[in-house]
Amino acid sequence: MIKNTQVILKSTPEGEPNVSNFAFTESDIPTLNDKQVLCKTLYLSLDPYMRSQIAGRHISGSIKPGDVLHGETVSEVIESLDEHYKVGDKVRCMGGWQKYSLHSAKDLNKISEHINPSSYALSVLGMPGLTAYAGLVWQAKPKAGDVVVISAATGAVGSMAGQLAKIYGCKVIGIAGSDAKCAYAKEQLGYDECINRGTEDLASRLDELCPKGVDIYFDLVGGEILNTVSARLAIGARIILCGLMAEYNQKERIGGPPPGFWIRSRAKIYGLVVYDFEHRRQEFIDVCLPLINNGSLKTREDIAQGIAAAPEAFCRLMKGANMGKALVKVS
Ligand SMILES: NC(=O)c1ccc[n+]([C@@H]2O[C@H](COP(=O)([O-])OP(=O)(O)OC[C@H]3O[C@@H](n4cnc5c(N)ncnc54)[C@H](OP(=O)(O)O)[C@@H]3O)[C@@H](O)[C@H]2O)c1
Repeated sequence: MIKNTQVILKSTPEGEPNVSNFAFTESDIPTLNDKQVLCKTLYLSLDPYMRSQIAGRHISGSIKPGDVLHGETVSEVIESLDEHYKVGDKVRCMGGWQKYSLHSAKDLNKISEHINPSSYALSVLGMPGLTAYAGLVWQAKPKAGDVVVISAATGAVGSMAGQLAKIYGCKVIGIAGSDAKCAYAKEQLGYDECINRGTEDLASRLDELCPKGVDIYFDLVGGEILNTVSARLAIGARIILCGLMAEYNQKERIGGPPPGFWIRSRAKIYGLVVYDFEHRRQEFIDVCLPLINNGSLKTREDIAQGIAAAPEAFCRLMKGANMGKALVKVS
């Protein structure tokens, strides 16, 4: 009989997670009841919010030692008691870090055959893409000529936000963690400039590149980078507070910029939670799918192979070693 392999949290990490914080279990595949659907995981999405769930401070809930890690997946229906789903259908669901998952039909979303490869439903046409689109287009409302700064510039959200900002005619400056990432940002994603946060002086580089200040800051990291950019805002700036990479591995929360930076620039500050834009997902896909198909939007996926590789891939993501959207090809 086929067994299910699951990844559980073994211990709560202090600081950066490492593979010893995770363990594997095997169990029987559950039997289906009323209207349920059994799915085989094809791709598992690894996302920074999982570190917050492990720390017990994410709005979507907590993960405690012994729990199977949560996560969004692209899965294939292998058994169904619901007439709307048939064997072979590809769905997006919260399958978690495991090979098989059981769902109520109402918790599944069919993936359009136009989304090809289906992994794009977790990356450029999935939650990270929607996050970038919602923050940049619907919240910040970019105008041609705006100076846009984006941290974690080559990651799943940042790479999409940067390319969209270029499409809107903005001057786009990335912040990334290595020379290789900065080269990729400029050569492949079309950023005008990219600052290496590890080796360059961010403040003086921003002064040089944005002499009239920053119109839009898409903040994916918080911490000191948010302070440094907030000190350099143009009048009427928009800041998208989207992520806290600098904080997730810390026990204590990090303080923010002095409000005076935001007052003097008459800034609009937007807290972004992608779940609030779920009802507009199709609108976003309708705009971005053609842009992907005609090559205007490029994407890169950092795909680990097999469920056994999930813990290590997650640890790489949480130390910034991923190059593109972190995924695991489970089967
Ligand atoms: N609010 C929402 O609804 C929402 C939805 C999706 C994602 N997010 C947030 O968006 C952010 C990016 O997510 P993603 O999936 O696109 O991840 P990602 O950018 O693919 O990966 C995270 C990147 O963060 C950077 N980083 C890591 N540690 C850092 C540190 N201490 N200081 C500064 N930067 C650090 C690294 O890039 P470099 O080394 O190149 O800097 C790393 O590659 C995360 O904070 C995530 O939680 C929020």
